[in-house]
Amino acid sequence: MCGIVAYLGDKEAYPILVNGLKRLEYRGYDSAGVALLHEDKLTIYKCQGKVSDLEAHVGDGPTTGTVGIGHTRWATHGPPNDVNAHPHQSTSGDLALIHNGIIENYASLKEELVHRGHTFLSDTDTEVLVHLIDDIQRSEKVDLAEAVRLALNSVVGAYAIVVLDRKDPDVMVAARKSSPLVIGIGDGEHFAASDATPIVEHTKNVVYLEDGEIAVIDRKKGLKIRNTKNQDKTPFIQELEMHLETLEKGGYDHFMLKEIHEQPRSIRDSMRGRLNLAKGEVVLGGIKDYEQRFVNAKRILIVGCGTSWHAGMVGEYLFEEFARIPVEVEYASEFRYRNPVVGEDDLVIAISQSGETADTMAAMELAKNKGATIIGICNVVGSSIARITHAGSYTHAGPEIGVASTKAFTAQVTLLTLMALMVGQKKGVLSGSSFYRLLNELDAIPDKVQRVLKTEDQIKYIADIYKDASNALYLGRGYSFPVALEGALKLKEISYIHAEGYPAAEMKHGPIALIDEAMPVFVIATKGASYEKVVSNIQEVKARKGKIIAIVTEGDTVVKGIADHVIEIPETPDALVPLLSVVPLQLISYHIAVMRGCNVDQPRNLAKSVTVE
Ligand code: G6P
Repeated sequence: MCGIVAYLGDKEAYPILVNGLKRLEYRGYDSAGVALLHEDKLTIYKCQGKVSDLEAHVGDGPTTGTVGIGHTRWATHGPPNDVNAHPHQSTSGDLALIHNGIIENYASLKEELVHRGHTFLSDTDTEVLVHLIDDIQRSEKVDLAEAVRLALNSVVGAYAIVVLDRKDPDVMVAARKSSPLVIGIGDGEHFAASDATPIVEHTKNVVYLEDGEIAVIDRKKGLKIRNTKNQDKTPFIQELEMHLETLEKGGYDHFMLKEIHEQPRSIRDSMRGRLNLAKGEVVLGGIKDYEQRFVNAKRILIVGCGTSWHAGMVGEYLFEEFARIPVEVEYASEFRYRNPVVGEDDLVIAISQSGETADTMAAMELAKNKGATIIGICNVVGSSIARITHAGSYTHAGPEIGVASTKAFTAQVTLLTLMALMVGQKKGVLSGSSFYRLLNELDAIPDKVQRVLKTEDQIKYIADIYKDASNALYLGRGYSFPVALEGALKLKEISYIHAEGYPAAEMKHGPIALIDEAMPVFVIATKGASYEKVVSNIQEVKARKGKIIAIVTEGDTVVKGIADHVIEIPETPDALVPLLSVVPLQLISYHIAVMRGCNVDQPRNLAKSVTVE
């Protein structure tokens, strides 16, 4: 949560910062601000609202300066308003600071600093940092970098920060612990940002800061890295593989719609080089050394949050069916606080699009400390989660910018399918012919998703009918139960309609009481193991005048005769249905939200990367 961006070079900083903030807005968008340094003059603009509100607030005001920092906020401490927006300034007015994370011991630090004469203006935890650094700079008579280092030694919590000092306009200091920070190295210029998206259009050379590292960027001396223990570190420069066009809307009205439509490609990319039909094998390079751990695993634990947790539930069904390994899927936030039974015999799969979700990270660390093997499934290359796992596989879905996750889900499920098939084959659970048949079916999925996308006009028609609903129910059984949960999550996230996902048969133990003619019920009723049972559930809804929108297998006639609307998807084995059936549900939510006038890419109160617990 919160996006930070900074620049020091020979260009005007303001347009670079504003552009960078727009790229980072998915991380939070309740207020925004910039600080610009020109000679010894520090100019700060900040206000409640989005980056576009900040631009309007700046208007024709002065924006000169080749050094600057920018921030887009997702409020934790203190409401979103102008005063709580970053950057925050020291009482002297010399220092300006931006922060992503939470300072847990801010209350005690604040008390001490107030006692020492610092005036606090905001309700934020962040403000203690800028006063603390300023205080140390003055009392210890040290430069900015050393003051930052000393200050961070007394701070408990998570942070990515960048600090400017009016007294030294050629230096910018950045540091991180548990919140991401990337340094970009250009020609005579440097960048710092929460992720690489604001940097990629300027340079491909980046350094991902490690926890406890401080980057000192000096106009003349370039980049130096040390840690909070004052040890020098050699920057490890990596080349970005990100392409600029993946960060643009590419002609679509919203990133979410673009990302839904990208799924044939993103699923294909997630399989590329891994699923080899000619050789009849699955090779996952990132976990090759851990294959035997999978094969011998007594139990698999899957942790994640939100949509990634739903993907994990599909993973549970996959691993249990194909590899006969018992699986437990845990909300990372619950797992970490309930003294879970986990140890050396366990294999933990952590799933995260962003690779930065605080709860997922904490759950992994807990399991790792208890001796479990940690495997990651992440989308963002170089992210914190990817770096603390023992091994893992990237999803290769490309940057996902819409806050509601779509293509990341199908890419995660694709990888879980590949893993489960690979382990099932190696364990001898899957016969050669079943394995090969499933590989072929998986290989055909991207083309089938393309076919599902062709139902969009019909989906728009259905969306128009149900756009004013106040509640919705999503039902599915077996592999379709997690998809029902995901469909409900998509609708509530972006259209603010209350929606619940339920196992279809459980409906009669509660939700059936809610059904009346105003209740749209989305049912995944594809041909397969529980088809007849789901048809009975549909009858139960119809008997109570509920409206049925069913996702069915192409050519289905039975459900067509009962349901109010059907959306057909191509036939595929039960295990692969989630990769197809989720797509119409994503589209329904998208079109309903657009018709209700909601901000689809930036739904209220949400953020894409949840770096606080
Ligand atoms: C937030 C996002 C969701 C996402 C969840 C987990 O709630 O809005 O779309 O599924 O975090 O994020 P992760 O990056 O760990 O997959």
